[in-house]
Amino acid sequence: MHDRMPGRPSAHAALAFYDDQHPPAGDFLADVLEGFSRTPKQLAPVYFYDATGSAIFDEITDLPEYYVTRTELDILDRIGPELSGLAGPGAVVIEPGSGSSVKIRKLLDALSEPAAYVGLDISGTHLEAACQEIAADYPALQVGAICADFTQGLDLSQLQLESGRRIIFFPGSTIGNFEPEGARQLLAGFRDALRPGDAVLIGADRVKNTDTLVAAYDDAQGVTARFNLNLVDRINRELDGTIDPSGLSHKAIWNAEKARIEMHLVADHAQRFHVAGREFELREGESIHTENSHKFTPESFTSLAESVGFDVLHSWSDAADLFSLHWLEPAAKA
Ligand SMILES: C[S@@+](CC[C@H](N)C(=O)[O-])C[C@H]1O[C@@H](n2cnc3c(N)ncnc32)[C@H](O)[C@@H]1O
Repeated sequence: MHDRMPGRPSAHAALAFYDDQHPPAGDFLADVLEGFSRTPKQLAPVYFYDATGSAIFDEITDLPEYYVTRTELDILDRIGPELSGLAGPGAVVIEPGSGSSVKIRKLLDALSEPAAYVGLDISGTHLEAACQEIAADYPALQVGAICADFTQGLDLSQLQLESGRRIIFFPGSTIGNFEPEGARQLLAGFRDALRPGDAVLIGADRVKNTDTLVAAYDDAQGVTARFNLNLVDRINRELDGTIDPSGLSHKAIWNAEKARIEMHLVADHAQRFHVAGREFELREGESIHTENSHKFTPESFTSLAESVGFDVLHSWSDAADLFSLHWLEPAAKA
């Protein structure tokens, strides 16, 4: 059931529409209980982004070790004119996982008379505020917001913003947070939401030397550690948890076989804890696996995109090959 509120006065006044697809929010408890019952214990990264987690993530993006954001922004600056030519006038830009809607400004500034911007995020409050800021700053643009889970496919059926090409903007190497099969399903969902001639502009972090990778996820100021531990605070606060966060250490490791950085919370000593009345225990040295960040080579990314029916028509990198942006279009059906 979607709540579509075109022209709704008051809170959404600045938005062309606010489409609430009611992504299930009640799964936090079920997912945490299930994740703590696994060996090794695991938590889903989608739960990092409560208001505190989103604010800490914004801090991470400014860290000297976190090359990802500034490198991607630099590439976007450089390729703006090319993107404008590729997109053509009147583009409709959709951003799944739009968060603070910061990078999108580079793209909107580069495009020629974009017609519309649609932010899509699972976190409704953050989404609405960010989209309203875009609407205020880009008065000629139609701005809409969809509160939905992008892993469930992109339902753009209510998008009455028929204009130029649809461009799905998926920056930040969020694709790397998914296991290979999940990444394929996600991209297949994007492809299904597009028509011939539409496109995806996607950021993908590159495989590189281990020290640079590990430092990006284990910074000297401990901001990423705070981000990781916020998940435990959230469980304690929202799910009646009794986990002792002071007995957990943040750890980032490079898993070469799977080409990914893994974030863990490792128990400094054994502890028993409860979540919503269920008891769990952590042995000394046992880890809770909280996030994967897969890294790509040009070949591994192309193979992923092609496996779900996209052609990679353009790829751009920085001079040090730290990060890449790719332009994908649905492959013509044989
Ligand atoms: C790291 S932020 C990225 C923000 C922005 N795209 C950028 O790169 O600057 C990730 C955002 O994705 C959202 N998100 C994570 N998983 C999601 C999901 N399954 N469906 C919808 N949004 C999701 C989070 O709420 C968060 O706002």
